[in-house]
Amino acid sequence: MSVIRVEGLSFKYAGADDYSLRDISFRVKKGEFVGILGASGSGKSTLCLTFNGIIPHSITGDFEGNVYVKGYNTKDKSVAELSTLVGLVLQNPDSQLFNMTVEEEIAFGLENLGLDVEEIKRRIKWALKLAGLEGFENEFPPNLSGGQKQRLAIASVLAMKPEVLVLDEPTSQLDPLGREQVLSLVTLLNKEQGITTIMVEHNTDYLLNFADRVIIMHKGEIILEGKPRQVFGEVEFLENLGIKIPTSVKIGYRLKREGHINTASLNEREVIEELKRILGKEL
Ligand SMILES: Nc1ncnc2c1ncn2[C@@H]1O[C@H](COP(=O)(O)OP(=O)(O)OP(=O)(O)O)[C@@H](O)[C@H]1O
Ligand SMILES: [Mg+2]
Repeated sequence: MSVIRVEGLSFKYAGADDYSLRDISFRVKKGEFVGILGASGSGKSTLCLTFNGIIPHSITGDFEGNVYVKGYNTKDKSVAELSTLVGLVLQNPDSQLFNMTVEEEIAFGLENLGLDVEEIKRRIKWALKLAGLEGFENEFPPNLSGGQKQRLAIASVLAMKPEVLVLDEPTSQLDPLGREQVLSLVTLLNKEQGITTIMVEHNTDYLLNFADRVIIMHKGEIILEGKPRQVFGEVEFLENLGIKIPTSVKIGYRLKREGHINTASLNEREVIEELKRILGKEL
């Protein structure tokens, strides 16, 4: 079953000259992990804002086509209703945290759902445990590290038990440790909790290993889509768009060019094996 279905979606911000999204169609299956890549201004964030209805409800403009979440047309649901279906995490964790304690931050969205106190407590505990923030309940969110803040932002949307988690460059403002923590959490949520995940992320090494599908956007359109191996194998095409090639594919591409192997799109394990084989022959 498709959890997300986008059909002929085009969007032009009010007052803008040009469309930011152009005739986009794709589906996301339950449990799938879809990575989105593209140059700055290609429409990645705009697309993310259509999944939870911020576009067209809060940010208006010319909206054509349809976005369905779990069969519901986002046009027919309020942003509040959609927030229980789609959890959105943004680039800057500071812009998403505004409560006095970690616990209150997570409780905030839940109280608005009208859940009973016991259920709220259960969900807070569950979300904190998954995000690795147990013991931080009474901390003041601005005192947390970047990685902890972003994990708290993820925990807050997770507690709403959404069908889909949408993350728009969640690691781009973090230090290497924070990045690692957030990527590990996203992997755990998708692979172990089965949460459907859509993530804008420039770390193509990560997407090669963990995404089921990758979508490449360019000037508001999807110009390439497929399994990570297939997409990242298009080395020259992606380099022309300024997209970073995964390290193992870069090495594979070079080995292929030098006639050692037939396919460039390798993962880390395969690259190591090929290098051992090639070096072994030469030694
Ligand atoms: N609020 C807005 N009003 C008018 N135009 C906008 C608005 N937000 C974005 N745009 C335009 O829409 C296009 C797509 O922008 P968007 O932010 O979706 O790109 P992006 O792929 O997320 O880029 P980045 O990698 O820099 O985050 C750009 O041309 C941008 O200038
Ligand atoms: Mg963006």
